[in-house]
Formats: sequence, structure tokens, C-alpha cells
Amino acid sequence: MPSQVNSACEVACAEDLTYPPPPSLQGDAHVPDFNTYKDLYRKSIQNPQEFWMDVASEFYWKTPPSGKLFDYNFDLTKGKIFVEFMKGAKTNVCYNVLDRNVMEKNLGDKTAFFWEGNAPTDSSVISYGHLLKEVCKFANILRKLGVKKGDRVAIYLPMIPELVYAMLACARIGAIHSIVFAGFSSESLCERILDSQCAALITADGVFRGEKLINLKQIADEAMERCKEKAQLVVKNCIVVKHLNGRLNNQHKAKLQTAWNPDVDSWLDELMVEASEECEPEWMDAEDPLFILYTSGSTGKPKGVVHTVAGYLLYTALTFKYVFDYHDDDVYWSTADIGWITGHSYITYGPLANGATSVMFEGIPTYPHVGRFWEIIEKYKVTTFYTAPTAIRLLMKYGDQAIQKYDLNSLKILGTVGEPINSEAWLWYYNVIGNRRCPIVDTFWQTETGGHVLTPLPAATPLKPGSATFPFFGVVPAVLNEQGVELEGEAEGYLVFKQPWPSIMRTLYGNHDRYENTYFNKFPGFYVAGDGCRRDKDGYIWITGRIDDMLNVSGHLLSTAEVESALTEHPAVAEAAVVSRPHQVKGECIYCFVILKDGKKFTELITQELKKQVREKIGPIATPDFIQNAPGLPKTRSGKIMRRVLRQIARNEKDLGDVSTLADPNIVEVLFSQRCEAAA
Ligand code: WTA
Repeated sequence: MPSQVNSACEVACAEDLTYPPPPSLQGDAHVPDFNTYKDLYRKSIQNPQEFWMDVASEFYWKTPPSGKLFDYNFDLTKGKIFVEFMKGAKTNVCYNVLDRNVMEKNLGDKTAFFWEGNAPTDSSVISYGHLLKEVCKFANILRKLGVKKGDRVAIYLPMIPELVYAMLACARIGAIHSIVFAGFSSESLCERILDSQCAALITADGVFRGEKLINLKQIADEAMERCKEKAQLVVKNCIVVKHLNGRLNNQHKAKLQTAWNPDVDSWLDELMVEASEECEPEWMDAEDPLFILYTSGSTGKPKGVVHTVAGYLLYTALTFKYVFDYHDDDVYWSTADIGWITGHSYITYGPLANGATSVMFEGIPTYPHVGRFWEIIEKYKVTTFYTAPTAIRLLMKYGDQAIQKYDLNSLKILGTVGEPINSEAWLWYYNVIGNRRCPIVDTFWQTETGGHVLTPLPAATPLKPGSATFPFFGVVPAVLNEQGVELEGEAEGYLVFKQPWPSIMRTLYGNHDRYENTYFNKFPGFYVAGDGCRRDKDGYIWITGRIDDMLNVSGHLLSTAEVESALTEHPAVAEAAVVSRPHQVKGECIYCFVILKDGKKFTELITQELKKQVREKIGPIATPDFIQNAPGLPKTRSGKIMRRVLRQIARNEKDLGDVSTLADPNIVEVLFSQRCEAAA
């Protein structure tokens, strides 16, 4: 493959360049050109009833949808916010993604997942038939342990097949899964278990990430212990996957002592031996909850985003089919972790609903070498590759040589998600990985939106590097100014949505007020995404980033408040303020200002302790890059921290804008003179 280094000109003018869809893709594409996209889009808005009934007709319904499909209120001034879609229809998501494929479509022998372990020698192949059996057995185990429809089940597992078995087993019996990314700390896990009062916890003995062994069961035990101490919540059942069997050397074995409480803990493999492979699904209302997934909130307390059965199934299935232009012989790979929404929607539900074959990867991009992603693409002849800008920037650093060894000719479509992609990374992905043949679908969406809401379609949309382009079917975006006035044409402002699509979140678990306040209060009548955007002269939408107190570190959202509260729990810290600062690989990184208590001295030891503290309280993804000792913070006269000013200090940008409300202007000079140049 020839190396295609981005030319300086290409990078400089990237925003004005347009990349048309490749004709080779247009022949048998679901949406073969831009006019077809526009026609279908119009239909989805003007006649949603017919549009979504067509989609629904591909699925199995115990009680088919009938009557009015959508019922909703987006306007707080008119009453409670709610969204209902196909209410009264009955179905089961697990049945639709498994039984329907195996029984009705005869896909029992088709590969659902090529599982690729952390070590390149470790892999397995899971067919739809096998997946169905394992899920039924797991579902029977949960039922036997007393887990019922509506109960919440916490899942704290790495990227192993059992994670998919566990989530689909919950879906089968109507239990609500709450998956917690296995990189979160015991405290974060505990907080999530408590918030939704989980009846059971599913975890594993441990996992390797690269060379590093992580003792998940120990973290799970600590979390369960905390649940007891903090709120007298006793998790009655902890099911443990024996994942490390045969993967440990003697040194590891000595380190890994799995504590065992026979009243609570049970090994999954022992339960599976006796479980039946037949399991009648629980027939669920379209509007019953399917799962909860926590996402960071600006108060620091995570928000339990609730998705419901039918809307989520239909929307993830349809976006998967169109956005990745899915065809039966494709091999699709999303490098996301199922612990995040991308993995829920585009590793489990969307691909399986289409009967697709996917790669599921346990490892990291740089182990055992920096060409691991490209090696996997070659190994499985991946056609559709979906990853994050942070991974692209990381791998770009290692140069094109790590890529040239591998045959990437199987690739047809590339995708990105998680944060805005800078044009340099976009062009490298397009030129070097896609060899100028593969469109890049830059998909904008959120945990809250359930599926892609702004995205190109690969054979239809002319691309502009860094733009998420246009809305998906059924989605109506708008740009508002600070006064809430809708802006037409070329404009920059708040990204909002004017009406629901099937997979928009329905509530925040146990806190509907917070749902209304966070997303619907600022501009009555609109769902407010929390991102800024710009619409260019051609109508393309460009996401400009978060406009609230959120940090986007390597595509993971964190709130400034949760990092601040982790810092202030250190005995030497009086006050802390956290902002983001651009980072070459992570996109944004964390810059902290800390004020120490009287008499405490700022030392290297304190810096290290604070970093450790944040890691332990939230997880390694939240580790601060910079910690500055601050004698004071820029505040308004009413005492509000002026984060805008701190952000400029962290970035060393002298243009502070309007600082007339600043109580003590001197502090800004002091902070500038003492800023951290190098990462802590
Ligand atoms: C950001 C991830 C620009 C955005 C699916 C959003 C993006 C937040 C893009 C949601 C994109 C996601 N371009 N920004 N293509 N995709 N974002 O909930 O700020 O983890 O609000 O969902 O990520 O993050 P979340």
C-alpha cells in the first residue's frame, strides 16, 4: 500500500475540501446517492408512521404496534417531558437479535463474533446458534437466582463473550442491565450499584490489559463492601466468570488470590453446566426499560440514562444498516468497549439485529505491538472499521511503517465517534488507512441519543473532513443562539433537537426532574445536547465541542465536578478547580488548580497522591495531566469560579475576554506566572 502522507495544503484547506462517495460503493448501497438520502429523510419526517412501521415489519412482535406511534412532550412549559414510541406493542429484544436470526433467517451457523483476546494467540468464534444457547442458559441462571422483570443487574466485565451473554440474558428475562465499564474504580461501581439498587452483580476473576493484570473480582468485592457500609445495600448474588483459567503463569497465580464468599459468589461455569438451553423470553412492552447506562453529569453525580425496548432496537438496527451500509458478507469491527454506549448500540444490539458478523476485541491498540489493529483487520478481513479519534491520533504517531506490513484492502468503510476529529487525523485515516478508497462516517451521537443522530451515509454524502454532516432519518436538529432563537443558514450556536426519534433516552433512572432540568429546561421545546455546533454555507453541521462543564478525555466524558470532588477529599486540599486543556492524543486532558489548606506544603509527593486519589476514586481514565498549586482562584464577586479564565490560563492564552466581574484581578497574573508547562 503506498504511503499517503497528508500534504500541508490538504491539511490547511481540509475544511473546504469535499470528498465524494466512491462509485464502487454506490452500486449496491442501501442509500446510493444524496438525492435518495434526501427523499428518505423527507419521508421519515413527513410520514414517520409509515417510515417506522416499515422498519418494524422486519422484527418479531408478540403484539404488533398499532395506532399512533409517537406520543411526546418536549416543552416543559406545557407539562412533564415524556416520549413514548409504539406503547402497547409487545416484543423481546433478545428474541429479535438471536432467535429470529437463528429460526426465521437460518443464521444458526453464521458467525456472530470473532472474539480476539488480549494475546494474539487467544481467540474464538461464536456462531448465532451458540450465542443463543449460551444466552438462554445464562437467562435461566438469573431466573433461578430470583432475578425478575424490572430488576436491575450490574455487569462489570471486560470485553469477553460472557459480557454479551450477560446483557442479552437480562434482556431476555426483562431485567434491566446496568453495565459499568471495567476500568472504573470500586467507588464508581458502588455508586452505580447503589443508584439503581441492583439485585445482582456479574463480574470476572480478572483480565489482562496489555501486560497488566487487573483483579476485577477484588474491585467488585470492595464495591459490594462499600454498598453495605454506605447504604446497607447487600448485593445478594455475585456471578463470577472464570476468565483467567489457563491464562496465568505462576507469578500471576501468586498475586491473584480470589476471595470467596459462598453465600453470595458463584462461578458462572459451574452454574452453566446444569442450566437448560431453552428459555421462554419475557414479552415486554415497547416502553419497558431495556437498560440503564451511566454517563457523567455536571453535578459530579453520574446520570443513569434509561433506554426502552422497541425504540432502541429499531433505531440501533436501522442506523447500523444504513450508516455502515451493512451487507450480509461484511465483517464489522468497532473497537469500542461495551461498557460505553458505542459498544451497547454498535457491538451488541445494532449488529446482532442485522445478523452481522463482528470482531470483538479484548485488548489494547498497542499490545503486543503498535500494528495490532491493522493485524486484526488483515486477520479477519474486516470491511467496516469504527474507532475513536483518540485511537487514530495515537496510532498516527507511530508512523506509516507499522501499517504497511498489513493488507488492509478488505476495508470498505471507516467510521469515527466520541469527539470532534481534527482534519489532520481525518486525512491520515482517509489516506493511509483507507487508501483513499473508503468514506469516513463521522458519527455524532450521545449515550442519551441511543444511536447516531448526525452522520454521513457512506455512499450518499459528500464528506468534509471533521463534519458530522447531516441528520439521520427521523432526526430534526436546529441551531439556537443564547436567547433561544432558532438560527437559519450559516450560523453557530447551541445544538438542539426539535422532536424525538425512537431511541432518545426516556428518563434518568429515579430522577425525572434531573432529566427535565438537564436536557429540556434551557430552551423550552427542545432537547439540548450540551454541544455547540456550526452550520456552514452548504448546510453541513460541525460539532464544536461541549458547552457545559464536561471534559472529553480520549472520547470519554467526565465532569469537572467529579474530578474536583475526588481532589478535595485529599486531607491537604482546601479547594480545587478543574478545566480541560488540548492534548495531542487524548483530544483534551485534565488540568487542575488546587488550593492547599493553611500550613500544607505543595510537594511532588502531594502531586502524586492527588493523581492516585483521582485514579482510585474514578478510574485511570480520569488521571490528571497537570496539577498547579494555586494561592487562590479567579472568582466573581458572588463567589462563582470563573472557569473560562482558568481554561485560558491552562492553555496559556492571554486573551481573557470580559473580566469585569472578577473579584480579584491580581490572582490571574499570579496563576499565569506559575502555570505548569510540563505534565505532572
Ligand atoms: C462527543 C458517545 C464530535 C460530544 C457516542 C457528545 C462527538 C459526547 C462525536 C457524547 C462526533 C461524540 N463529533 N463530538 N462524531 N461523537 N461526540 O455520551 O461532545 O460518551 O455530546 O457518547 O461525545 O459522549 P457519550
